[in-house]
Amino acid sequence: MSQLEIQNVSRVFPGKKGTQTQALTPINFSVNENDFVTILGPSGCGKSTMLRIIAGLDQPTTGQVLLDGQRITGPGADRGMVFQSYTLFPWLTVEQNICFGLREKGMSAAEQKERSGYFINRVGLKGFEQHFPKQLSGGMQQRTAIARALANDPKILLLDEPFGALDNQTRLLMQELLLGIWESAQKTVLFVTHDIDESIFMANRVAVFSARPGRIKTEVNVDLPHPRHYTIKTTPEFMKLKARLTEEIRAEAIAAEQH
Ligand SMILES: Nc1ncnc2c1ncn2[C@@H]1O[C@H](COP(=O)(O)OP(=O)(O)OP(=O)(O)O)[C@@H](O)[C@H]1O
Ligand SMILES: [Mg+2]
Repeated sequence: MSQLEIQNVSRVFPGKKGTQTQALTPINFSVNENDFVTILGPSGCGKSTMLRIIAGLDQPTTGQVLLDGQRITGPGADRGMVFQSYTLFPWLTVEQNICFGLREKGMSAAEQKERSGYFINRVGLKGFEQHFPKQLSGGMQQRTAIARALANDPKILLLDEPFGALDNQTRLLMQELLLGIWESAQKTVLFVTHDIDESIFMANRVAVFSARPGRIKTEVNVDLPHPRHYTIKTTPEFMKLKARLTEEIRAEAIAAEQH
């Protein structure tokens, strides 16, 4: 059995006057330990819904999600989530934000400081420990959010378009940062994006969602070697994957338009 098993998961949202939105049709999907899986799909196809169900923030209409064989029934420290919009506590500093979950776990102040210090360094925020979120750029806020998620040492990291609001240059640097962390620390990562380059660059597998109601249309393995450098994006192997995924996504985007 894989580390994460998504079994027959669907989600229907009730609407006004008895109308319903089918966000996900039954999905079966599994993720192995240390996989880096990206989920690529058109807007509104249910990517966030699926991630929220895995995070335990929403319940599926049918089916279940198992993490290490245990059914997920609610949020837990074994899953670290990073959202698209900035979700740091505005009244806490960078360091306090990162230590938040550690304190909840009952870790000593000295341990918290050491652990948060390690991840602050890792994401390049040394010197900003005592800054508040509003004193940081968008990229720095997302680096803090990633450090906060990693510091809790989750079994699996769930990222929902974490770099979506960043300028392109910062976004590319953040991709390299996250990939570098994954290459050295090995973690199971599930990363939602609608950027094709981003989906290939970091992943060992891309799961392509269909237009709503979402289902997994194809899974594409990315057998590019590690460590990956951004120059890999101009190699024929990368271009080939990109051409294939562009085709898949285009068909779905057109289908989504016609809904
Ligand atoms: N709480 C909710 N109540 C009702 N409908 C919802 C709710 N959350 C999501 N939906 C609907 O479910 C569908 C999928 O939404 P979801 O946010 O999962 O899409 P997405 O793939 O993440 O899109 P995007 O790429 O734009 O973020 C949409 O039609 C949306 O309107
Ligand atoms: Mg979304």
